[in-house]
Amino acid sequence: MSLLLLLLCFTLSTLHYVTTDEVHFYVSVTGNDSRNEGRNITQPCRTLRHAVLVASNNKYKNDTKIIELLPGYHDITRTVGVNTQNLVIRAYQKQEVHVTGGLRIPSSAFKQVTDQTILSKFTPIARQHVRVVNLPSVNIKHYGSMSLFGTCTNCIPKLEVSFNGKAMRIAQWPNKGYIDITATPGGVNGNTFKYNSTVPKSWLNESNPWIQGFLHFNWHDEAIPVSNLDANTMTVTLGRKTYRGVIPGQWNTVGSAAGFFKFINILSALDEEGEYYIDKDHGNLYIWVPNTDGNVKSTDVVYGSMIDNCINLGNALKNVTFKDFTLESCRQTGINGGGQTELTLINLEIKNTGYAGIHLIGAKNIRIAQCLIHDVNGGIELTGGNRQLLESSGNIIEDNEIYDFTRLVATGMEGIYMRDIGHIVRNNHIHHGESKAIYYEGNDFLIEHNLIHDVCVDRYTCDGIATSRGDFTMRGTIIRSNIIHDIRGLELPHINCRALTLDIHSSGNVVTNNVFYNNDIDINIVGGMDNTITDNVLYNATRYSIYGIRRNSQGRELQGLLDHLHNMPYHNADWALRYPKLANIDSRDFNLPAGNDLSGNIVYIEGPAQYFNAPGSKWDAPEYYNISTIGYSTGPGDHFNVKNGDFRVKCTAAEWANKNNFQQVPSPNEVGPNTSPLGPTYLQQGFTHTVNIVASSSVCSTMAPVTQHPVPSYLPDGSDLHIIFNVSKEGCWLVVTKCTKHSSYVGTYRDMFGERFKHAGESEEMCFRRAVSEWNDCGKHTSEPVAAIYGPTGATTFAGDGCFIAEYGCPQHGGPADGHAITAGKIYRDVTAEQQYNASTNETNCLSQALTRWKYCGSSPNHPVTMIYRPTGAIRTAGAGCWIHTDVCPSRPEYKSMFYDAWGSTNRHTDSIQTACLNQAEYYWHLCGSDKDSPVTAYYRPTTASKTFP
Ligand SMILES: *[C@@H]1O[C@H](CO)[C@@H](O)[C@H](O)[C@H]1NC(C)=O
Ligand SMILES: *[C@@H]1O[C@H](CO)[C@@H](O)[C@H](O)[C@H]1NC(C)=O
Ligand SMILES: *[C@@H]1O[C@H](CO)[C@@H](O)[C@H](O)[C@H]1NC(C)=O
Ligand SMILES: *[C@@H]1O[C@H](CO)[C@@H](O)[C@H](O)[C@H]1NC(C)=O
Ligand SMILES: *[C@@H]1O[C@H](CO)[C@@H](O)[C@H](O)[C@H]1NC(C)=O
Repeated sequence: MSLLLLLLCFTLSTLHYVTTDEVHFYVSVTGNDSRNEGRNITQPCRTLRHAVLVASNNKYKNDTKIIELLPGYHDITRTVGVNTQNLVIRAYQKQEVHVTGGLRIPSSAFKQVTDQTILSKFTPIARQHVRVVNLPSVNIKHYGSMSLFGTCTNCIPKLEVSFNGKAMRIAQWPNKGYIDITATPGGVNGNTFKYNSTVPKSWLNESNPWIQGFLHFNWHDEAIPVSNLDANTMTVTLGRKTYRGVIPGQWNTVGSAAGFFKFINILSALDEEGEYYIDKDHGNLYIWVPNTDGNVKSTDVVYGSMIDNCINLGNALKNVTFKDFTLESCRQTGINGGGQTELTLINLEIKNTGYAGIHLIGAKNIRIAQCLIHDVNGGIELTGGNRQLLESSGNIIEDNEIYDFTRLVATGMEGIYMRDIGHIVRNNHIHHGESKAIYYEGNDFLIEHNLIHDVCVDRYTCDGIATSRGDFTMRGTIIRSNIIHDIRGLELPHINCRALTLDIHSSGNVVTNNVFYNNDIDINIVGGMDNTITDNVLYNATRYSIYGIRRNSQGRELQGLLDHLHNMPYHNADWALRYPKLANIDSRDFNLPAGNDLSGNIVYIEGPAQYFNAPGSKWDAPEYYNISTIGYSTGPGDHFNVKNGDFRVKCTAAEWANKNNFQQVPSPNEVGPNTSPLGPTYLQQGFTHTVNIVASSSVCSTMAPVTQHPVPSYLPDGSDLHIIFNVSKEGCWLVVTKCTKHSSYVGTYRDMFGERFKHAGESEEMCFRRAVSEWNDCGKHTSEPVAAIYGPTGATTFAGDGCFIAEYGCPQHGGPADGHAITAGKIYRDVTAEQQYNASTNETNCLSQALTRWKYCGSSPNHPVTMIYRPTGAIRTAGAGCWIHTDVCPSRPEYKSMFYDAWGSTNRHTDSIQTACLNQAEYYWHLCGSDKDSPVTAYYRPTTASKTFP
């Protein structure tokens, strides 16, 4: 009954908003505002602003108002404020409509430069191509001013120029990249620095030079006016203090993160097409347009931006749609607002703005779809929803293409910047920017089916997607089924760019079913908890697939964490239900990276890259970063079409996927926009990211195993025929040369007792144990060692006292020289290790000498070193390659009990990647028939790490 009542109320309240009549208002660039309301297409009004004003009249309150923009360039002369309900602003019949915040500069206004002083600043070729426009004569009188950034996020708006729809650039030097700061006479906090170039000497009387650059940190670029440029001493004195300091650096050089800059706003540096300079004192625009002769044709469309925010949305605005037109040339934001609900921005093109394309604060149930947003400073900035109440914003950003989104700055402006709770970001294509594609700060975002690539361009350190820092409560975001590739930064070694960073203590994120490829680092986790990173393809990271660390927060950082935590009602019922692990946080150690599941990814890497940054460290234990189950791809052969960016798995990777419930990853055509048209209809823009799937294939082929094998250990381990003792291939053999207590034990014989009662004929391990018990029975005398040989494999060990070495020799110290394999070796007591490291009584210390000595001898593949701790018969070999051991391999009897992983070497880089080698235990276990009683061990001899599966 009460449910019925509720439904009834709901229906009634919805009905209340339903409007019946559609009222159309027409706007034409040749219309007339004073004469009419624009309700008849033959008598349109002149400006969008006027149409909005008319439509806002109370008499249309209950109507759906449709403002039809007739084709052409609608230059607005003031910000258009929109503050009414049930309104649609669109291009009439999907025709070509531009709404601009600028003024068109007619071609006739472009003159040859005749002023000799000005001409003398230019290179000969610039002299031919640069033209001048007197701005007041074309009604452009307010130029704005250059703005500091780094210190401001909302940069001061200024006049900018575009040519045929493409924003041009203020004259700068150098045209590409930066030059180095060579010295900072005033120190890090001073306002002077030196450079080393004679180029500025040729600049005469520059009136308003600025510099822009990474002065101290690579995550922060700034622009600052120059108060004095002394080209003789090559010294810059800044007109303001830097925001974060200044240091000497080396652009484009390994190891240098900052300390470089460029000069901007330099008339003398107007030396390339696409550049311009505004001389405010004389109101002159100097410009080199991209036409071969430098002349502007009457058909060329040149605009100067005039209006700050082009469209401002009132906060009561509700149910408004902007559709199917281009919005451009805004000095600040394209569409700016706060508090809107049910706003739809669809099929728009937004470009050439001085700040973000779209900036909406506290918005609910808005949808930004099928928009093209480019040549902006930040694509979309969006906040909304209530975190305290866990009330989702209902905002959706989908099917958009956002690119070239850092037109004026390199840091601080993202493709999508979002805060608060519950936005959905799906099927977007975000590419080409110097900064992040997506930054998020808050809870329960869904980021799916996006295509992200080539962001973080030219950076030393940067992230494709990043979370906020220092907050445990911002949980619940799901990043799934995206493709993220080529997040590489500068083309230098050891650049620290990451496709995804879960920044300081970011917790409770789910990252699944994504494809990452050709990134420096795929995923970077800065010490958070409860993150789930599974079922992803992580392909060919140049450094690490996953970088996970412990973050030890103290002092201010710890206090910040606590403050953020206590600002949220994480104990209340809603929160505890939604985030049960957060509800328990008081009993957990904040500084442990606990509960991060990194298992179940399919990985391809080439040495020296690694799956995890610190394999074998404390932090890759399952309770911190669980990396236990990893599927290894063999490379291109395990994916549908690597060249096409189609990383769906097949062949050996698919076999692993099926065993581990790995969900197939998306093809390139399942990410990015999938609804057309993209942008305004008139552009007829197709999807640029889709590929010909016909070229993909699930046919299998793997590479042949390597034929060159590293030399097996001198102590027989089952991998080779080479045998020290001549015994038959059956049973367990003992060699006793002396036995004080039982002289009858002496001899070389098959251990019938051990085989019958101790399973010594069934495995190497059982046979080896017999040597130890025999030695014990004989009285544990130093001079009475016992050798055990497991007949079927020939594997051998010794029981006795002390720590022994088995090797072929030591190329770097005592020889024989390295270069070829030899067969003769020796087994002898490691006197040094016994004396210095208690190696005769400490098994660990004895065995660890294998690696130490192998390295000491030159890490030669021809000279492996085996240690034998005789009291237990334990052995360990250091050397080259990945080696596999199993007692039996029923389905592949051709495998020996110990063998070099030649197939893994070519197909999985097991010789150089420890995790790849150790994972072969699982691979061969399945290959051998998945028998629980026959585990397989993989030995990575270059570090002596090993892993047994299961
Ligand atoms: C629009 O104006 C034209 C010419 O003035 C007139 O013939 C027509 O009836 C008008 N249409 C409407 C819908 O008012
Ligand atoms: C709009 O609808 C309301 C409620 O039905 C009504 O009271 C009001 O008069 C209408 N206004 C106009 C301008 O038609
Ligand atoms: C919102 O506006 C559309 C026209 O764009 C109209 O059809 C619809 O009825 C309006 N919705 C509400 C709830 O008023
Ligand atoms: C400045 O550059 C020149 C030319 O590249 C070089 O010869 C000179 O050593 C440099 N001076 C300093 C102080 O680095
Ligand atoms: C992996 O990336 C490197 C460049 O970092 C490239 O040279 C190599 O060809 C890539 N390998 C595969 C199999 O894609």
